Amino acid sequence: MFHHSHSVSETEAIAAELARTLVGGECIALDGDLGAGKTQFVRGLVRGLGGQPRTVSSPTFVLLNIYDTGRLPVYHLDAYRTHGPDDFEAIGFAELLEQGGVVALEWPRRVAEVLPDKVIHVRFEILSRQCREIQIARP
Ligand SMILES: Nc1ncnc2c1ncn2[C@@H]1O[C@H](COP(=O)(O)OP(=O)(O)OP(=O)(O)O)[C@@H](O)[C@H]1O
Ligand SMILES: [Mg+2]
Repeated sequence: MFHHSHSVSETEAIAAELARTLVGGECIALDGDLGAGKTQFVRGLVRGLGGQPRTVSSPTFVLLNIYDTGRLPVYHLDAYRTHGPDDFEAIGFAELLEQGGVVALEWPRRVAEVLPDKVIHVRFEILSRQCREIQIARP
């Protein structure tokens, strides 16, 4: 499924629409360059689940943020600064996948080895300053 977003709020809306279909236990891999809109997308997921989008911030340095929403907890991870899969094991990535929440992971290619079999892939392409192509592929 391909979407075109022309603004931050459109990206959030695309994410909020995906959020409505989530039942818990999903792992969402957010793949795209710096500034593509991965963190904005997580804001939309949190909003779509009934949470506060303003609480969403980039977990680049802390690796993991957890957001409570009305429906499902969101475990927001960023592998950009990890030194590989060992870091991810150390923060309990495998256990997070078992919590029945939603795992949203930025820079999944940095830790490709630890991804579960079933992943919702969201791929971002920067088309222009405001324009993004967002591809959502379900397992
Ligand atoms: N259509 C759009 N969708 C999302 N973000 C957009 C869009 N157009 C412009 N932007 C801008 O692009 C940036 C996206 O930032 P965001 O933090 O979500 O990127 P990211 O993919 O998480 O980057 P990083 O890899 O650094 O974590 C923001 O500054 C936002 O204002
Ligand atoms: Mg980000």
